[in-house]
Amino acid sequence: MGLENMLTKISIDCDYKYEYEQDDYLGKHELDILLYYARKVKGNFIEIGCNKGLTTKALSKVCEGIVYAIDYSEPTNPEQQYECVDLFKHCLNIENVKCYNKNSQTMDYSKMSNIVLAFIDADHTYEGVKKDFENMKKLIKNGYIIFHDYSPETTFCWNGVANFIDELALTREVLLHKGTMMAVVEVKDGY
Ligand SMILES: C[S@@+](CC[C@H](N)C(=O)[O-])C[C@H]1O[C@@H](n2cnc3c(N)ncnc32)[C@H](O)[C@@H]1O
Repeated sequence: MGLENMLTKISIDCDYKYEYEQDDYLGKHELDILLYYARKVKGNFIEIGCNKGLTTKALSKVCEGIVYAIDYSEPTNPEQQYECVDLFKHCLNIENVKCYNKNSQTMDYSKMSNIVLAFIDADHTYEGVKKDFENMKKLIKNGYIIFHDYSPETTFCWNGVANFIDELALTREVLLHKGTMMAVVEVKDGY
């Protein structure tokens, strides 16, 4: 059986188009998808890879708890040079956002509790995404882990993210929203 047949990824049909605004990394409809899942859960959120913090700001509006915003001004991987000017600029001074200028892979999460949603959009290497997923998996009992930059349909795809998610989909369901680069894993009772 070919790899494709073994995947448990499920695509959700829709007709999304990318619409970016200045400082945005997510298309408008991708943000809608993120907020759709965010509205389904009650508790605290983590965003790993916030850059200027537009997504963080949007998450803070639907989060009834705290949004832990993590970004690291020194790239873990030199091949992934993001422009890290004005880090967190859109989410500074928001009451329910706490910003951490830390490496998500090595930082201490032990004081963060009741995490129900994690959005991973940071180090896009296979090892980086895997480490972030494993860290979030330990924190979330029930909720969602959402990845950006996975796409089976376009060539604009980060191989590290694609390889990790394809591997993940061999053992668990991964929800994809067609025409977007969002991939969603639901965590239920710690699995
Ligand atoms: C694509 S941008 C995030 C965009 C943001 N999610 C949004 O939608 O506006 C990726 C960010 O991940 C951060 N990053 C990369 N590796 C990281 C790491 N190991 N720990 C924390 N942040 C990291 C980079 O500094 C960069 O700002």
